[in-house]
Amino acid sequence: MATLDLKSIGKSFGDAQVLHDIELSINDKEFIVFVGPSGCGKSTLLRIIAGLEEATTGSLLIDGDDVSDAHPIDRGISMVFQSYALYPHLSVFENIAFPLRVAKLSKSVLEDKVQRAAEILQLTDKLNLKPGQLSGGQRQRVAIGRSIVREPKIFLFDEPLSNLDAALRGDMRVELSQLHRDLRATMIYVTHDQVEAMTMADRIVVLNQGRVEQFGTPMELYHHPATKFVAAFIGQPNMNFLPATVTDVGDAGLCVQVDAGPALVLPVESAGVSAGDRVEVGIRPEDITQGAGGLNINVSVVERLGGISITYGTTDGGTRLCAALGGTADIREDQKAELKLEPKDCHVFDSAGKVLRRRQAPVLVE
Ligand SMILES: Nc1ncnc2c1ncn2[C@@H]1O[C@H](COP(=O)(O)OP(=O)(O)OP(=O)(O)O)[C@@H](O)[C@H]1O
Ligand SMILES: [Mg+2]
Repeated sequence: MATLDLKSIGKSFGDAQVLHDIELSINDKEFIVFVGPSGCGKSTLLRIIAGLEEATTGSLLIDGDDVSDAHPIDRGISMVFQSYALYPHLSVFENIAFPLRVAKLSKSVLEDKVQRAAEILQLTDKLNLKPGQLSGGQRQRVAIGRSIVREPKIFLFDEPLSNLDAALRGDMRVELSQLHRDLRATMIYVTHDQVEAMTMADRIVVLNQGRVEQFGTPMELYHHPATKFVAAFIGQPNMNFLPATVTDVGDAGLCVQVDAGPALVLPVESAGVSAGDRVEVGIRPEDITQGAGGLNINVSVVERLGGISITYGTTDGGTRLCAALGGTADIREDQKAELKLEPKDCHVFDSAGKVLRRRQAPVLVE
């Protein structure tokens, strides 16, 4: 059992405040991913949870107990870093066993724990090798093994895969998800990589300049981004943002005129906006189709991937646009194309980057 509650955590280095009022409640056995751009405070927050850094304000509870002042070793937390510091002169076995030797465990208990960790991580036949004889992915697994043997309540990972090449990252991503299922532990994982975030997380924390932009499941963030920042961060290729002007706020929804594009009636709440306001219409590349929809683009590049054709171009209003069209789409570079968006797929952001909430789907009465 390991729940984690962060209550109003803030952190300043001198005059610079790098974390602001972080509130998070993490459930037992959840796989939580922190994502956000470089410098947004991911590592600092992880280090505060581990006890390697002291929060300036707020408190931290594990299983309901306040551990804000507890020593890192007493928190039942283990952290795996981006640069896995293995001892080059020690075997894989001894590298994994290291924390147990420090804790002076008996030989048989120690051997059992190392063997079990090696089995989980498929390192059994590598136990006698030195780190220098392993691949990058295997070395990272040894570092994780060293965490596992300590049987922490909470695992923290700070970009553990960022030193690996793309193929190995993909493999390790699957292995870590499997490990999470096997160990049934609470895990917090930091990454820049939104694909890792989407595929591994039960819930994602999107951080921006030391604040939580949104905390939710991958599908909540994808379908209901609360801000333009989250909308732009989650999803590949990135969401498009088309500048538009509000023309009317009617019962049917928000009427907008997209710059050099179609007039749309969008099913969103219009509180706080009025005719004449500038907004942005967000549309994901995969929600755009080819056809009579009044959105003309000048196509610059078409990437044919087989099943889909990623099409890049510019609207007549000068906005860059990306559409994921069908594999056999009749579309050519340096020509014009007409594209279509469905109002139900559109997200609308006000001038401050906040989403206008979607209207509830009408309830049909029989
Ligand atoms: N010991 C420190 N002293 C002063 N400033 C620091 C210290 N550690 C971090 N910072 C600052 O705090 C901010 C957040 O840093 P942090 O390392 O948490 O970012 P991050 O999100 O992990 O970035 P990255 O993705 O590049 O690893 C940065 O502006 C950084 O310069
Ligand atoms: Mg970092």
